Amino acid sequence: MTTLRILVFPLLFAAACARQPDPARALRGASDGPASIALPNNLLELVEKADVKRGEALFVSKGCKACHNLTDVKLVGPGLQGVLERRHLNWVARMILRPDVMVKQDAEAKQLFALVMTPMANQNVAVETELPALLALLKSL
Ligand code: HEC
Repeated sequence: MTTLRILVFPLLFAAACARQPDPARALRGASDGPASIALPNNLLELVEKADVKRGEALFVSKGCKACHNLTDVKLVGPGLQGVLERRHLNWVARMILRPDVMVKQDAEAKQLFALVMTPMANQNVAVETELPALLALLKSL
């Protein structure tokens, strides 16, 4: 039994260490970002009505896919699975619309940038017609 423990514990320990979690994914937030980045008043309603399939298409056409996985695995930016459980919906919306403003004005975005050290570029996402579908996709993950 003792021999078994000596063998099994280091193996379990090694297995736990092998999958290095992305430290950026440990960041949780309550901020909803600066009000200067305008959002529709009924954003949540628009997200609930939006089409996840359209979100998937936009995720490719807007270039998100070049920098983000829809899993928990980091690419250039953090893996986006569960991001809406870790962060406020308005914060995620504003990060998608104006990452350049967020990184200068929002404490949580500054903290994220300090960890990742790569800026996210603006992708010209339209507030009314594209943003809700992208958020619906992120919500579905
Ligand atoms: C050029 C690479 C790049 C592109 C393209 C890009 N992002 Fe990002 N994204 C990043 C990086 C890097 C970060 C980390 C924030 C930082 O460093 O400022 C980030 C952060 C985020 C976050 C916050 C993640 C978290 O864990 O809090 C979300 C949400 C996000 N991006 C969504 C998108 C969406 C949606 C698109 C497409 C419209 C997109 N990104 C396009 C690189 C990119």
